[in-house]
Amino acid sequence: MDHFHLKDGVLHAEDVPLTAIADAVGTPVYVYSRATLQRHARVFREALSAIPRIHLAFAVKSNPNLAVLRVLQREGYGADVVSAGEMHRALAAGMAGEDIVFSGVGKTAREMIEALDAGLGQFNLESEEEGVELAAIAASRGQVATATLRVNPDVDARTHAKISTGKAENKFGVAYDAAPGIYARLSALEGLNLRGLAVHIGSQIGDLEPSRLAFAKMGKLMQELRGQGLTVTHMDLGGGLGVPYKAEDALPGPGEYGAMVAEATKDWDVTVMFEPGRIITGNSGVLVTQVIRVKPGAINPFVVVDAAMNDLARPAMYDAWHDFAAVVPTGQRMAANVVGPICESSDTFAMGRDIDTVKPGDLAVFRTAGAYGATMANTYNSRPLVPEVLVDGDKWAVVADRIEPATILAAERVPDWLG
Ligand code: LLP
Repeated sequence: MDHFHLKDGVLHAEDVPLTAIADAVGTPVYVYSRATLQRHARVFREALSAIPRIHLAFAVKSNPNLAVLRVLQREGYGADVVSAGEMHRALAAGMAGEDIVFSGVGKTAREMIEALDAGLGQFNLESEEEGVELAAIAASRGQVATATLRVNPDVDARTHAKISTGKAENKFGVAYDAAPGIYARLSALEGLNLRGLAVHIGSQIGDLEPSRLAFAKMGKLMQELRGQGLTVTHMDLGGGLGVPYKAEDALPGPGEYGAMVAEATKDWDVTVMFEPGRIITGNSGVLVTQVIRVKPGAINPFVVVDAAMNDLARPAMYDAWHDFAAVVPTGQRMAANVVGPICESSDTFAMGRDIDTVKPGDLAVFRTAGAYGATMANTYNSRPLVPEVLVDGDKWAVVADRIEPATILAAERVPDWLG
């Protein structure tokens, strides 16, 4: 459920026609709906209401826009961050340091220090080496870093290989069998308050069974640690719940996920932590684009739009599907390939797809682009960095400017010695 619908034949974000935003800001532009973000934040929280103690850390990587973070901060969410950059965004949005979780396999010493300075709530350690380093840094500053140990449960999340993280061969977490020994050794370190375990098996997960299996393994491990006299008060179950990208996608919703987690964790007696990203932001955003021209193709015509793989990388990177729809549909349909202007064939959004008929100058959207959209944008082909707009009822604002190629060019220089 989202708040992008047709009113008087024009696609609106809440009460704002996308034509008005495109006229004022130009295209391509991401448009987010505050009502949709809020709704998903509340639905997700509600779905977990059977669990006595929870902590919600929004996965900033899915959509780090400051205004989006503020919406979630006002919904009582903390943040899951994977860099000092993301941490500073979460803090700038008003999230409390103690509500921020620091994930990621490559935290640098400098980032650890910045996080300790910010009073960060929890580090999710990805290796024993990282724990030893963090403990030493904290101890040398007279501090104690709160942490969990991320475990790789060796469970296949049955999602796209590039976003699967819980198999033994993936770089994430410590090996399941090695976890008790590592947990015991790290628990003994001065400078570290190891309080639990973390797991995250992948993203865009469309089947609850792998998560159920992974959580069962984590529960077993937790009991084993407690049996050894070690303390476990927090269990971080990560994010990963998938969203429908096509109308016919039948995925488990937050309700089914929440029931599964409540059952899996009912005897745990811990604070259960979550790092949802896409389930909150996915269908809260669309990418608005304009058709540049339509050119004949060998089988189907090519609809060339002004958005490209640098603005929305998911189709090129993961063969992802994003629905394409006209902002002012005529009711007619055509079979077409939808492509961007970038000079490589991976700049393709759809092949041989049945779409709303469009002609040059028409506006269209790629739907479900609120997660891993603008945040993965770049300036390849010296294109601008795509701007972002947030809508709230009949109000809207540009919440990230378009960064023009001239601005980027201005940060480059030719050294004198090149002549
Ligand atoms: N926690 C950790 C430790 C993660 O690595 C991730 C995502 C999340 C939480 C949030 O997962 P979500 O709830 O959004 O599935 N760029 C890819 C997705 C990469 C996900 C990376 N990690 C895409 O566009 O599909």
